Amino acid sequence: MIAIGCDHAGVELKDEVINFLREKNIEVTDCGIKSGEKCDYPDMAEKVCGMITSGEAEKGILICGTGIGMSMAANKIKGIRAAVCTEHFSAKYTRLHNDANVLCMGARVVGPGLALELADIFVSTEFEGGRHQRRVDLISKLEEK
Ligand code: RB5
Repeated sequence: MIAIGCDHAGVELKDEVINFLREKNIEVTDCGIKSGEKCDYPDMAEKVCGMITSGEAEKGILICGTGIGMSMAANKIKGIRAAVCTEHFSAKYTRLHNDANVLCMGARVVGPGLALELADIFVSTEFEGGRHQRRVDLISKLEEK
């Protein structure tokens, strides 16, 4: 299951991403918000990431104006590896090499066409493991410092 959330800057894009994933028969939980509502991005990052750390969701997608605020907040949470992506290569390799579990996108940065492709790559690309696992483990160790 993919948990997805946004702040007020990302509502329309969030809804498009949800429709796109559901059309692909991917299970999605909409953590909010609805059009017209306001939300501080750290609160939504906490909500979506909480679903990942609890095991309810496998991955998350967070959308704000730039994607940056969401990623800063998400990466404060133990067990979360969030990546802001604005092009295909990063979306692919942050899964292959970093085992990113959260994709952050900026609704004021990427158009809907690109955003849907980034979401598609993110949900369908498997972590390569191998030598990359050791590096991901080193990231986890940093959480203890
Ligand atoms: C909200 O106006 C905006 O600051 C937020 O969506 C995001 O871009 C922060 O990183």
